[in-house]
Amino acid sequence: MRVSWAKLLALSCLYEVSQGNPVQSKDGYQLQPFHIDLSSRVPRMLDQIKRTELPAHPVYVSTGTSAGISLSLLESFRTEWLTSFNWTREQKDMNKFNHYTAVIEGLKIHFIHEKSKAQDAIPLLLVHGWPGSFLEFVPIINELTEEAITATGKKVSFNVVVASLPGFAFSSVPPVDWTVADTARVFNTLMTKVLHYDTYATFGTDWGAGIAYSMYDQFNSTVRALSLDFLPFYPYTSDQLAAENITLAPLEEFEQAVAEEWTNSGEGYFIEQTTKANTIGLALYDNPVGQLAWIGEKFVNWSDPNAGKSPSVLTHNEILRGVSLYYLTESFASSVIIYQQNPNGFATVYTKANNDAPLLFSAFKYNVGFWPPAVVAKTGNLVFYSSE
Ligand SMILES: *[C@@H]1O[C@H](CO)[C@@H](O)[C@H](O)[C@H]1NC(C)=O
Ligand SMILES: *[C@@H]1O[C@H](CO)[C@@H](O)[C@H](O)[C@H]1NC(C)=O
Ligand SMILES: *[C@@H]1O[C@H](CO)[C@@H](O)[C@H](O)[C@H]1NC(C)=O
Ligand SMILES: *[C@@H]1O[C@H](CO)[C@@H](O)[C@H](O)[C@H]1NC(C)=O
Repeated sequence: MRVSWAKLLALSCLYEVSQGNPVQSKDGYQLQPFHIDLSSRVPRMLDQIKRTELPAHPVYVSTGTSAGISLSLLESFRTEWLTSFNWTREQKDMNKFNHYTAVIEGLKIHFIHEKSKAQDAIPLLLVHGWPGSFLEFVPIINELTEEAITATGKKVSFNVVVASLPGFAFSSVPPVDWTVADTARVFNTLMTKVLHYDTYATFGTDWGAGIAYSMYDQFNSTVRALSLDFLPFYPYTSDQLAAENITLAPLEEFEQAVAEEWTNSGEGYFIEQTTKANTIGLALYDNPVGQLAWIGEKFVNWSDPNAGKSPSVLTHNEILRGVSLYYLTESFASSVIIYQQNPNGFATVYTKANNDAPLLFSAFKYNVGFWPPAVVAKTGNLVFYSSE
């Protein structure tokens, strides 16, 4: 879920720098500065959090994390939400960035656009997934816009665009039958027609990887580098790897085991959101503690190499901020329909994208999916693979 900005920097060695000069669009996209102000919904959120009763029976504690979020963890999150979490402060931090909205194909698209001072900065679109949001890229935006030196001694910086997926945060709810390929088209329009970047690089994670990959495949003259930490293809099973004579190093064996564990016991939400999105979406729509249990469990389980045994690498405050954004923007129900709308979003048959531009891939030890280099190379022009 998290990106190492140093990995993204590696893009610069490979990318043919565009001289695209972003100017305000006069092409009818209604480009407008945007300021976050959700304060008026906060009292309702706090009231709902306070009024939610949780059970006291020890069975909800003794089942441990294999049954999902533990009651004690949920309670401690809830206490922090009511006592130390401060939406006003979070919102103020978010508003330090330049936010905009534009209307593309009838959908309002929210995005952050932060430019480097360098004239030859590389335009870079960062695409989040579920249960993420633009917030997961906020910690790296400034670093990416600042000039750095690559391993080959080249100066590099990025013009960073972080867009909210349709159905997430401040972007419009997508129409029926909307797919990842449609979002890819809208985001390419954002980069090329609204922001006037002739060519650009993109990074995607989770569903964002599916969108970024579709952009790379559909728009091979504008997407000139792609960086991913996830693929829109189902990871290979151990048997499939063996059948193709792909052998794994010890770290890769571990990553394969994490991914198989996810397939065996962590995929319930995925099936629910793919087959009955409205049931879970509407059930939790106005229920912040419910959203915290459903989303918070994913943040803890997927991002926490400490496996709950010591404090998470994500702070509780970061998790509460993410869940609050879902609740306050009323986007939980519209966020889960991406699963329903893309039942084949993770393909089982591997194909190669129609693009000769560089593909970079970062594997992370606790990612819920694992794709060794030989498998990633099936999908595009893989020139860089890192593992940690
Ligand atoms: C919440 O944050 C705002 C903005 O930083 C600050 O003015 C306010 O005092 C904080 N509230 C509390 C209760 O700490
Ligand atoms: C895997 O290795 C075996 C034995 O060397 C060979 O017969 C087989 O063709 C290889 N399979 C692939 C997919 O390369
Ligand atoms: C994550 O979920 C798996 C089952 O999918 C479980 O075995 C593990 O204990 C959970 N870890 C945490 C930290 O919640
Ligand atoms: C882009 O796709 C077209 C159509 O499939 C293909 O002919 C062309 O070679 C591709 N260009 C690049 C740069 O990959």
